[in-house]
Amino acid sequence: MKYIVVSGGVVSGLGKGITISSLGRLLKSCGLSVTSIKIDPYLNVDAGTMSPFEHGEVFTLHDGGEADLDLGNYERFLGVRLSKDHNITTGKVYREVISRERRGDYLGKTVQVVPHITNEIQDWIERVAQIPVQEAEGAQGQVADVCLIEVGGTVGDIESMVFLEALRQFQFKVGEENFMLMFVSLVPVLGSVGEQKTKPTQHGVKELMSLGLFPKVIFCRSSQPLETATCKKISSFCHVPPSCVLSVHDVDNIYHVPLLLMEQNLHGIILDHLKLQAPVLPPDIGAWRNFAENIDKFTKVTKICLIGKYSTFQDSYLSVIKALKHASVAVERDLDLQWVEASDLIKPDKDDKTQPELENGETWETRELKHKEAWEMLKGCDGVIVPGGFGVRGVEGKIAAATYCRENKKPYLGVCLGFQVMVMEYARSFCDMPLANSTEMDENCEHPVVIFMPEIDKDTLGGTMRLGARDTLIEDFEGGGKSISYHLYGKKDRVSERHRHRYEVNPSKVSAIQSKGLHFVGKDETGERMEIAELSRDRHPYYVACQYHPEFQSRPLKPSPPFHGLLLAASGQLDEFIAKSENA
Ligand SMILES: *[C@@H]1O[C@H](CO)[C@@H](O)[C@H](O)[C@H]1NC(C)=O
Ligand SMILES: *[C@@H]1O[C@H](CO)[C@@H](O)[C@H](O)[C@H]1NC(C)=O
Repeated sequence: MKYIVVSGGVVSGLGKGITISSLGRLLKSCGLSVTSIKIDPYLNVDAGTMSPFEHGEVFTLHDGGEADLDLGNYERFLGVRLSKDHNITTGKVYREVISRERRGDYLGKTVQVVPHITNEIQDWIERVAQIPVQEAEGAQGQVADVCLIEVGGTVGDIESMVFLEALRQFQFKVGEENFMLMFVSLVPVLGSVGEQKTKPTQHGVKELMSLGLFPKVIFCRSSQPLETATCKKISSFCHVPPSCVLSVHDVDNIYHVPLLLMEQNLHGIILDHLKLQAPVLPPDIGAWRNFAENIDKFTKVTKICLIGKYSTFQDSYLSVIKALKHASVAVERDLDLQWVEASDLIKPDKDDKTQPELENGETWETRELKHKEAWEMLKGCDGVIVPGGFGVRGVEGKIAAATYCRENKKPYLGVCLGFQVMVMEYARSFCDMPLANSTEMDENCEHPVVIFMPEIDKDTLGGTMRLGARDTLIEDFEGGGKSISYHLYGKKDRVSERHRHRYEVNPSKVSAIQSKGLHFVGKDETGERMEIAELSRDRHPYYVACQYHPEFQSRPLKPSPPFHGLLLAASGQLDEFIAKSENA
């Protein structure tokens, strides 16, 4: 196994993750298989209990691991599936060592950070690096050629010290030609003449060297391309040849970064140092290049409204936004994404005591104005997505959006809560259940259409969240005819997607709802859990929703099918797509 370790200095948020995923993408284009590990110097054991307000979306892995957006980026760029063990935290390592100490595995010896914690870290890395990476559905996994390791935090933090010490030992354990350290640094540009400053980089590298770690490649993050003089200066102070000081300046979109690294021969440098033979040279990166370049080039625009919570839009819906982007490139449209705050869709009424009180600076007039704007956006767009969400606030607004889309034949995709909203809306409008609600919002509601349905955990005998990949069986419409999802998923009748929820459609209400025309065309293996709902195409161009989160498996060159369907419908290309699929 060859290990590439990347650490960073000076400040966080440098785009270390993007640099590493791009590096991985480049190696993959050389025909090598790649896996990756993220080291986070936190005491948390998993991301499931962390607040989405503070940390953004909880990215769910195939095995149910709850991670943050970095593992999502690795999966998307490398096209692989990672597991919860691919994220090492201080908390996980300590927990392991302490439980071993409790079991008496250390034979009563004193247990210390060095060597016990540092050994545990090294064992963990070696073990996880050997987990076969599965590249595609059904494909045989294989052990990767190269393992990328990102060390979170910045060099010099107290928190990351123990990991750096473990890696210092590790380089000797695995040998010079199997280990390569790289460093991501910031090169600030100062003053009116735009002078590029090298001091922060020199400092960071010096700090690393004092810990016995010598970087072989230095990535310089900067707003402008690195000047030759700057490059030479960094080279001479940091003991690396100028060819190994790479410019990672700002580019139009993140998908250009692998190309940027390739132009500077990063793959050559790596293959050389690690004495690796690449099956494919020069790197086969054509399809990726097309994707990166096309993103900014389309002249036709598709407007999609995302209905959610305003304050946290960017971070909470990151994978949803990526999935929309991937799908829009596949249908050759520029994506114009508009945010609509769900609660703005409800008509303000000062006499209605259930409406939220005015917040700072707000008046009933400004609230009325926002309400009008929200509806204008909704009416003016080509398609609507209602993604997963949490909390009561906004649910009635999402229901109003679902009603509008259904009545006006506007393409609609619901995900998780967006699926439940669609089903509640339908039950209220067609099934004599005007008070249809979710017991998550209203525990004692009269028509519980969405209820608490945990999975039963055999070990703890308790109910748990439905988390990670589960199979969905795709069926025909009741009364005949293939569903839209069947075509979108490439005529498959069994698909595996990731879940993260506790509430589901109440099985006892399913036949009442389906008999009025909302078809549950996807179910779990027992037939008890509803996974996909659709209206038939003679009633609506695209009214589709799923309980699972398809966004987590969307890839730049392989968009998620339900998202692809939304963009096809919103750009008027779905009929053609389905006709082609039927004749294929
Ligand atoms: C790894 O897990 C820790 C602890 O929950 C979390 O703080 C961190 O964000 C996770 N990192 C990734 C890349 O998922
Ligand atoms: C559903 O429950 C929520 C939360 O209690 C409530 O605000 C809403 O009015 C209910 N909707 C209906 C139609 O009963």
